[in-house]
Amino acid sequence: MKTVITYGTFDLFHTGHLNLLKRAKALGDRLIVGVTSDAYDLSRGKLNVLQSCAERIENVRLSGLADLILVEEAEGQKIQDIQKYNADIFAIGSDWIGKFDYLSNLCNVVYLERTKGVSSSNIRNEKFRIIRMGVIGHGRIVPRFLRESKYVSGIEITSVYGRSKTRAEAFAKQHEIAESYDSLDAFLNSVDAVYIAVPHHVHVEYARKALQKGKHVLCEKPMALTEAEVLELQLLARENACIIMEAVKTAYAPAFSQLIHIAKSGAIGTIIAVDASFTKLVTNSRLREYDPKQAGGALTELASYPFLVIAKLLGTNPSRVSFIASMDKHTGVDTFTRAQFIYRNATATATVAIGAKREGDLCISGTKGHIYVPAPWWKTESFEICLENPALNKKHFTRFADDGLRYELAVLVNLIQRGEYTCNYLTNQESAFMARLIEQFRNHLNVDLLSD
Ligand code: CTP
Repeated sequence: MKTVITYGTFDLFHTGHLNLLKRAKALGDRLIVGVTSDAYDLSRGKLNVLQSCAERIENVRLSGLADLILVEEAEGQKIQDIQKYNADIFAIGSDWIGKFDYLSNLCNVVYLERTKGVSSSNIRNEKFRIIRMGVIGHGRIVPRFLRESKYVSGIEITSVYGRSKTRAEAFAKQHEIAESYDSLDAFLNSVDAVYIAVPHHVHVEYARKALQKGKHVLCEKPMALTEAEVLELQLLARENACIIMEAVKTAYAPAFSQLIHIAKSGAIGTIIAVDASFTKLVTNSRLREYDPKQAGGALTELASYPFLVIAKLLGTNPSRVSFIASMDKHTGVDTFTRAQFIYRNATATATVAIGAKREGDLCISGTKGHIYVPAPWWKTESFEICLENPALNKKHFTRFADDGLRYELAVLVNLIQRGEYTCNYLTNQESAFMARLIEQFRNHLNVDLLSD
């Protein structure tokens, strides 16, 4: 009995996949097919897979060629599978020539001829017109966003808007963006979606205009400074069949979703406390972070991240929220703020600072153990489930690629292509909650100040 094993994503099952499975099957008596899990595809940078793992498994099953279907969860699993199932032959398409030679001390490695002219990527691109995205603003984050956008297929950054024509033009030229505009109307007419990367206090104004023109919006955090404005934008998005997504990158990162899932699964018992911190020392007081007119300060700048994890784990209805803050005496913006949350059965703190440092970690305490996420937890990559008996501790690792902005963009593309307008990674309620907290702080509600 000769066992053949092969692996793939098998998105939008096509003739290339079918031929490959036929050729692999013909090499032996039994065919095992490994289908990549969604988390594994995300972690290895394959961001635009359209079908879920369950759908892709079904594709393979319907071919009638697989005797056994496995889910491939991580790099390195192939070795275990080959050993476990006693595979005689590892088969894969010729696009991988040489890449799996390292398996040849375990079994026979065969590269099968790839079917020419067909691939899931081509089908995705043909099925969906490339989304034209424009960037509003050309500040510090935009070059990073442009770099990250190259990893996401199905979308192209085609234009940039800035109030100064010459600066927008220079930016477009420097970053090889086809068009630049200083007229917002003309800019919006040229795109399908926008990324809003201007100072916080003008997010709403631009998001409103874009949505009114039927353009999808990816808006830097915080989306707005009041809950009413967030709700207004969400309603506008619904009325215009558009997506509005808040760009809190952590929310879209593969390891963060796993972390939330594991924490809520009872792995550490009932969650009783969440403590998250994010500090970034900003020493140049001329920057936006210190400008009260541009809604500067630690809370508006950084608190979206801890608020996100608190909302995900404890919900959006705390019975009380209070703040302790230290304000900059020259500008009046907060340089250190700790928000304290009381829920019915749990508590949380969010500590943020632009004028002080603290370890940027996250700890989730439960009745049976805790989960520790080391700094920078907001670029979630590794975390440890720690139990009373340390021998039972478990570490998880899923890569967070570079700046991680590619994840939010990939989610946006996926939603647009699927024609879905609600996003589960960061829900409407969670965005509204984050704005409500910012609003409360800015209105000095339950805020205690540290004196000099
Ligand atoms: N394959 C093939 N011929 C094709 C396309 C894929 O033989 N025209 C093979 C691959 O070499 C691999 C298996 O099918 O062994 C699964 O590949 P997968 O990556 O899922 O398919 P692609 O169409 O290459 O996907 P993508 O475009 O997303 O990379």
